[in-house]
Amino acid sequence: MTARQVLTYPDPFLRQPTQPVAAVTEDTRRLIEDMIETMYAEPGVGLAAIQIGVDQSVIVYDVSAPEGERQAQALINPKILEQSGSQLSENEGCLSVPDFRADVQRAARVRVKGLDREGRPVEFAAEGFLAIVLQHEIDHLRGILFIDRISSLKRELYKRRVKKQMKHSA
Ligand code: NI
Repeated sequence: MTARQVLTYPDPFLRQPTQPVAAVTEDTRRLIEDMIETMYAEPGVGLAAIQIGVDQSVIVYDVSAPEGERQAQALINPKILEQSGSQLSENEGCLSVPDFRADVQRAARVRVKGLDREGRPVEFAAEGFLAIVLQHEIDHLRGILFIDRISSLKRELYKRRVKKQMKHSA
């Protein structure tokens, strides 16, 4: 397992839509292992393959308590089948949007389907924090970042800050 480098905004690769995985193979499982390693190294609660420069439809997440036994999950070709209700995701963040957090309005409940790392179909319902993480990661697969879902005022503030930082480091 190797932790990989996480791409950050405004890297254009993050905006690219991902390709569905045609067949779940050893390569897919190796990718998943690297993604989990990267997620823990950062640390984060979720990661999409696109964030480490792989345009495949794969996400990993772990919403278990960091001090307990870790329970990393992987979903291949995930899709939200249904969503309902709404909840405020407070101080949402993203490994690809460093040093920035904001509240995001998310669905309260989702029903998700995909494939597990053996390639078996899975389908389940989620609510609360897990529902937030799933929506966030599945957004990544369509090139959507959480800053696209906040007020334009806050988004502009963030964009300006990044521009300034880039100028200073250039
Ligand atoms: Ni993210």
